[in-house]
Amino acid sequence: MKSSDNFDLATLLCHDDEAYAKNQGAVVPPIFQNSLFTFPDWDAIDEAFSQPARAAIYTRGNNPTVGITEEKLARLAGAEKARLFASGMAAITSAILHCVSAGGHIITIRNIYGPAQNFMRQYLYTKFGITTTFVSGTDIQEFRDVIQSNTQLIYLESPASITFELQDLTEVAALARSQGIKTVIDNTLATPLGQQPLSLGIDLEVHSASKYLGGHSDLVCGVVMGAKEDIEAISLKEQAWLGAKMAPFEAWLLLRSLRSFPARMQMHAANAKEIASFLESHAGVKKVYYPGLDSFPQKELAMRQMRQFSGLMSVELATQDIQQVKTFVDSLKLFKLGVSWGGHESLVYAPLISYLREMGELAFRASGIPAGLIRLSIGLESVADLKHDLTQSLTDL
Ligand SMILES: Cc1ncc(COP(=O)(O)O)c(C=O)c1O
Repeated sequence: MKSSDNFDLATLLCHDDEAYAKNQGAVVPPIFQNSLFTFPDWDAIDEAFSQPARAAIYTRGNNPTVGITEEKLARLAGAEKARLFASGMAAITSAILHCVSAGGHIITIRNIYGPAQNFMRQYLYTKFGITTTFVSGTDIQEFRDVIQSNTQLIYLESPASITFELQDLTEVAALARSQGIKTVIDNTLATPLGQQPLSLGIDLEVHSASKYLGGHSDLVCGVVMGAKEDIEAISLKEQAWLGAKMAPFEAWLLLRSLRSFPARMQMHAANAKEIASFLESHAGVKKVYYPGLDSFPQKELAMRQMRQFSGLMSVELATQDIQQVKTFVDSLKLFKLGVSWGGHESLVYAPLISYLREMGELAFRASGIPAGLIRLSIGLESVADLKHDLTQSLTDL
């Protein structure tokens, strides 16, 4: 019989022997739905204060339900420690703030998640004079060329939002370490099953757990994972002072989701591969952006640093006619129109909707961004039904 130290991940995510023992064998640990914890005497509370990163004193700091979930996530990512936040953005901004100081410099990728980009470009610059350089990230030389004496952080997202470019994580981590620069990756798209950045030398891994980790479109949360020293510092500063801790009920829901995480990801990946191949050969489609396809431009790197692909892809329709793109989106019946992804339900989103709002039609047409770019989040429905929905919608064009 294997010991719990070397159980496979799927087993670890389904069982919790320590919690069974503490909670009368309850197969699902209870929710500690309380804001504070009381102590029998002065010495006991004083002892708790001496372990602020661990002791349950007040739920904004530590809570047992949140703690169990953090331990599971750390095991999943091969991290020393994990810390849960009230949203993915809270996790991202806390991890970044941990790495930078006034007057510093960040290198990041052009196609990272928009609000993370705006936080660096606008907020950190106007408040603290921190500058950011954006690169495509597909060639290590690009990073080398823009390192400055005040560079403090390289912030990655691989695959990147919408366009799916990859960065070579081993190369970037080695370069950053040699220059004393911290690295953070948003690993939401790949998930910890698809890619293990900490094992490749990246310092901190962040996720919007609202996506695949949660998986049921019923919670908003985030996580930062990495070395004990970094995570404890983030817990006692950025999280304690900004106060964006995850709530116990949310942690309990996330713990539930983790039990089915490997099975869900297998089905998301299998469905997505089939849909990506189907769309790639459809006359109504110009291009499919999905790292699991043989035609993916960085296929060799994807196979080297990723273990599995998720259910997210972008598709460029053959048409660039705004009205036709709108007709395609509105004709889909099973795919719901919405901004998020990673849940059980298939979703469609057209970045064009945001571009037209932000830029207006004239500026959009001048920008050269393809109008027919669509994001699909492939859910857990029957793949035959999903293909049927896409076929009927493409026929309407
Ligand atoms: C890649 C990526 N990172 C981070 C986030 C932000 O996460 P949250 O919505 O949980 O704050 C999102 C949300 O869509 C995302 O797509």
